[in-house]
Amino acid sequence: MISADCVVAGCRELLTCAGSLPKRKAAMRGLGLIENGWVAASKGVLVFVGTEEEFREQVSPEPDAVLVDGAGLVALPGFVDAHTHLPFAGDRAREFGLRLQGWTYQQLAERGMGIQTTVKATRAASLDDLLKLSLVRLDRMLLSGTTTVEAKSGYGLNLEDEVKQLEALRDLGALHPIDIVPTFMGAHDVPPEYRDKRGDYVDLLVETLIPEVGKRGLAEFFDIFCEPGIFSLDETRRLAGAAKAAGFGLKVHADEFVTQGGAELAAELGAASAEHLIAVSEQGIARLGASDTAAVLLPGVSFFLMLDKRAPARRLIDAGAAVALATDFNPGSSHLSSMLFVLQLGVLSLGMTVEEAITACTGNAAYAVNRHQTVGSLEPGKKMDLILCDIPGYVSLVYELGRNPVRTVIKGGRVVVEDGRRVGAP
Ligand code: NIG
Ligand code: FE
Repeated sequence: MISADCVVAGCRELLTCAGSLPKRKAAMRGLGLIENGWVAASKGVLVFVGTEEEFREQVSPEPDAVLVDGAGLVALPGFVDAHTHLPFAGDRAREFGLRLQGWTYQQLAERGMGIQTTVKATRAASLDDLLKLSLVRLDRMLLSGTTTVEAKSGYGLNLEDEVKQLEALRDLGALHPIDIVPTFMGAHDVPPEYRDKRGDYVDLLVETLIPEVGKRGLAEFFDIFCEPGIFSLDETRRLAGAAKAAGFGLKVHADEFVTQGGAELAAELGAASAEHLIAVSEQGIARLGASDTAAVLLPGVSFFLMLDKRAPARRLIDAGAAVALATDFNPGSSHLSSMLFVLQLGVLSLGMTVEEAITACTGNAAYAVNRHQTVGSLEPGKKMDLILCDIPGYVSLVYELGRNPVRTVIKGGRVVVEDGRRVGAP
């Protein structure tokens, strides 16, 4: 018999999301649904996923095992948020007000606001300030079912302040149950002191910041905002070469607002992901469809910036791209921390099916951050990262718009949200 120290019993619907990752095309619709599903783990790792009958035949819970009743609830893997700008200081509520009066995101940036506003606030903040702000945000994410978060620096734009953001991410690992995947985004923008000599900032990144952060082992990925007026294709290529040489995986903010060929370049460079893709070209869609580079779509941006244009999720899926969804949580273009809302936007705004959107928020998102061996589905050998939702069936994750149905979150075999409230420390 299999011994277990944590059991979830009798879920109305258990979405295992099992199967090889990433999922493409029709495979994205497979959720591995088990009615009256049971799950068991030992030391945080899943040892059983199946029906009640199979459970009784195969599993023997330890006498002091934690038992969670799944009756009437829908269980699924914890969400993986594959793109956030988590550790920033300040807010941009005033600039949000300007946007509501008709200013565009780009117009604010051209006037020294936007990302630069947050760079000022983040440079002025201490490591401790960033930790406190991030802990509150992580709690909110956890309460709406997120159990793994990719998080980018990129509001320091010099060695000291980028390192401060990345050290905050490192320290959060010990202070919060959510797993953090750290990304160094020194190429988020050109800092104000380099406005008139932007080439020097690219040199600084290539010669100093990238090798130094690489040496300190503070991040797994390097991310570049490849967009006209920010970093060109040539600059992106050069930065990517330096990042690879320093041992980073690559991510690219590609074709967010203006078509530049960022998606094609990301695929050519073998990046882990191309993100945003609101303005991706036909060729970019085809290239991503034929590549291992994940297409991470961030529907909160079109919604929050009130853009008519959306990322072409349907065409990307039909082309065979490994499509994932994420919040892009940041203070300017998507002040959104709920993956549930992203799931709903994936369906209602991007035209994905409910099943595709669930895959995009779990298994394919895990693939986009290179965590698909350990999370993103409920299968023996993976972490017991699981959420229980108070809904009659999984379609209601989208149908019950704006309501948070997450009652229980289990992270690494430990109950961290119970009855919709945070429990256990840290
Ligand atoms: O993903 N595009 C660049 N970065 C963020 C926005 C960051 C900000 O506005 O502070 C994004 O949209
Ligand atoms: Fe972003």
